[in-house]
Amino acid sequence: MGKHEIKKVDLSFDVYQSESDLEANDQLLLNKAKEIAKSAHAPYSNFKVGAALLLENGTIVTGNNQENAAYPSGTCAERTAVFYASAQYPTSKIKAIAVITDNVNQLEPVTPCGSCRQALAEYEIKFREPIRVIMGSASGKVYIAKSVESLLPLMFNQDHLK
Ligand code: THU
Repeated sequence: MGKHEIKKVDLSFDVYQSESDLEANDQLLLNKAKEIAKSAHAPYSNFKVGAALLLENGTIVTGNNQENAAYPSGTCAERTAVFYASAQYPTSKIKAIAVITDNVNQLEPVTPCGSCRQALAEYEIKFREPIRVIMGSASGKVYIAKSVESLLPLMFNQDHLK
């Protein structure tokens, strides 16, 4: 109980009750994510997730979760997509990512795991451009965060390496 102060961090995001309330571009991105979720390799969890990234040049890059019999060797949809995007289009800013599962029981939006937030933040910092995060669900409810950083307060970043 020494002398100290308490800092508070706000986490805010937009909540939509229906995909039809989204801008057309965001709807399209969610649909691409939904489509690619179907071809995920998720025999262990049976939870198929799809991610679609919109690049500044208009390209949409998609990815899905790739599981492995050695569980930790698998990876999430978001990282499959963002690593592919960065490998193929290393100079193209990332404007947005949509993520959703094809699981009909998932009524609340799928929110990226901590490792994916950290992985995505790398490119937000690289390009000095916020990546909007669009999180969809089977009920049609959608969350939209303005940036990855807003979802990952106190993230580890390259300044810590200096
Ligand atoms: N998963 C994703 O691909 N993205 C998320 O945002 C949440 C979790 C995957 C990882 C694993 O293959 C399965 O969903 C169950 O956790």
